[in-house]
Amino acid sequence: MATKLTARAGANIALVKYWGKRDPVLNLPAAGSLSITLAGLETVTTIELASALEADEFRLDGQLQDAASVGRILDLVGSQDRPRCRVDSRNNFPTGAGLASSASGYAALVVAADALFGTAFDRRELSKIARRGSGSAARSLYGGFCRMHAGRADHGEDCYAEGLFDEDHWPLEVVVAITDSGPKAISSRDGMNRTMATSPYYPAWVKSVDADLAEAGAALARRDFDALADVAESSALKMHASALAARPGLLYWNPATVACIQTIGRLRGQGTGVFFTIDAGPQVKAVCLPGQAEGVAAHLARVPGVTRLIRTGLGPAAGLA
Ligand code: PMV
Repeated sequence: MATKLTARAGANIALVKYWGKRDPVLNLPAAGSLSITLAGLETVTTIELASALEADEFRLDGQLQDAASVGRILDLVGSQDRPRCRVDSRNNFPTGAGLASSASGYAALVVAADALFGTAFDRRELSKIARRGSGSAARSLYGGFCRMHAGRADHGEDCYAEGLFDEDHWPLEVVVAITDSGPKAISSRDGMNRTMATSPYYPAWVKSVDADLAEAGAALARRDFDALADVAESSALKMHASALAARPGLLYWNPATVACIQTIGRLRGQGTGVFFTIDAGPQVKAVCLPGQAEGVAAHLARVPGVTRLIRTGLGPAAGLA
């Protein structure tokens, strides 16, 4: 039996956003979401059985961290009697800057742990465990296009992620415009909590998500870019509108974020296949029709305040490395 295994998982970006929980303890989302998994923006995680250790050890990008949340996820995969572990996790993209490093991180963790402990859970079960770490992590178990189900049951057994189409279905391209590479001001967890507790627009946001999911799913099935662009931009703006209306308001954007939104809008008006989406941070993700990313990147590179561009495409499911 192996005593050390490595897994990798790609970051994912929601096109229909997750923002708010129906149960903070089990980390059950208030509504479903729909995402694309990215190639190249990856977490690679190695877990080594280390029974001689007094407590689990967790390093992120070489730096020793508090291992409590990683340990809790390992307990959910194995059991509380599992051996202690040394976990080494590396991101090849900026951590904590609104690029969903926790999603790829927890997805790689559960895949490595499942293989190391010999538990052989199916993807759906692994997605439920990854969800306990971070809601969006459930989606990074799958490649291509993924749907997260909110479920209704209190125990959360009907709350899991599911693959919709693999990455070959529609090879969309993505340009990430970095406008600030520092850590984000307010984590998505805290931002969601504040929005749920104080935003008068939060109930309206939750109510709107099912229709967006249906629309986005149908657009994907028929590869209708304009329809997907429409619903994805609307979902992102509604999510941010609900957050802006929290008290105090949550403004994740900076001037360069707005300038990117306007540039992308202008390009689409001129016939380029591109739309934007934005998570709990100032970076802008431009989703492009196959073949359009190069032109889009050239325009975004000229936006004042854009410090770096990352070009990528759709990536595969999480797996052993
Ligand atoms: O998984 P979390 O708790 O980091 O929340 C993710 C929230 C957003 O990135 C803003 C939206 C999403 O669906 O990924």
